[in-house]
Amino acid sequence: MSKRIETYLEERKILVDKALKEFMPEPSGLAGDVIRAMNYTLFAGGKRIRPVLCIAGSEAVGGSADDVVPVACAIELIHAYSLIHDDLPVMDNDDFRRGKPTSHKVFGEAVALLAGDGLLTLAFNLMARCGVEKKGEKSALLRVIDLISSAAGYEGMIGGQVVDISYEGKDPDPTVVNYIHTHKTGALIAASVTAGTILAGGSEEEVQSINRYGQQIGLAFQIADDILNIEGDRNLMGKGTGSDKERGKITYPSVFGIKESRNIQRKSIDRAIESLNRFNERAQPLRDLARYIINRKL
Ligand code: IPE
Ligand code: IPE
Ligand code: MG
Ligand code: MG
Repeated sequence: MSKRIETYLEERKILVDKALKEFMPEPSGLAGDVIRAMNYTLFAGGKRIRPVLCIAGSEAVGGSADDVVPVACAIELIHAYSLIHDDLPVMDNDDFRRGKPTSHKVFGEAVALLAGDGLLTLAFNLMARCGVEKKGEKSALLRVIDLISSAAGYEGMIGGQVVDISYEGKDPDPTVVNYIHTHKTGALIAASVTAGTILAGGSEEEVQSINRYGQQIGLAFQIADDILNIEGDRNLMGKGTGSDKERGKITYPSVFGIKESRNIQRKSIDRAIESLNRFNERAQPLRDLARYIINRKL
């Protein structure tokens, strides 16, 4: 990773973590257990790539991080919920996440399920009461809520997750794997960066270009996740490896092999960077992030 993007990621991650600490409730009262579980996964680690992309999407059109931090945090809450549910025994049945035992291992399945629900609903609560109207108008925030809820729902992440699960053990199929990856992972990543651009008051053309960028890096991000599940270092990543093959998941490597998966990934990143042609140096972090996504080790 270049020093430039390392510093950029680190600085934005600090901003996001600070805001998340402020937004999250302390575990107390009769429902304290679920709040503890919500905080457990949220603060277990994580690259914060989606909130950082949201901030970068704002900065690319001259907006600031402050303008979008509440929405960026809400997206991370949605992501954390998706991880808790993804790891449940009825889904991927994984024991480690972000370097720690998974939520259901610590709190039991019922509380883990509810912690996911709690994070998802809190995300929308947070967006509903955030002050992003400061710069964008009210309608920009509503548009972003529309975008994020579609990306997280049956037309996006949930759609991808259900196909991921229901095609376990089936024959590798290029159309199916493209659907799974663009939906379970690509949709929320694309919405993250696009939300930033919308909230910062980007023009319609800019919003569309950034959305295309987001779709391409989103696909590449999940191909990287597939490759890391085969070749990655489990200690570095803080989650298990080898599980996709064990569960008969349809992945890019299972359909195309690793070499061709890397080619497809590289093409996606080239297309993503091409989508930024009209942007000046303020979009440099987005270009760097695209390259980081395929070179990442965790
Ligand atoms: C993991 O996402 C799940 C996928 C959608 C691939 P990340 O790789 O962003 O996980 P964290 O947030 O860094 O733990
Ligand atoms: C996770 O996909 C997608 C979501 C959580 C929506 P994976 O199941 O492939 O991701 P990991 O490898 O468990 O992080
Ligand atoms: Mg999964
Ligand atoms: Mg999984």
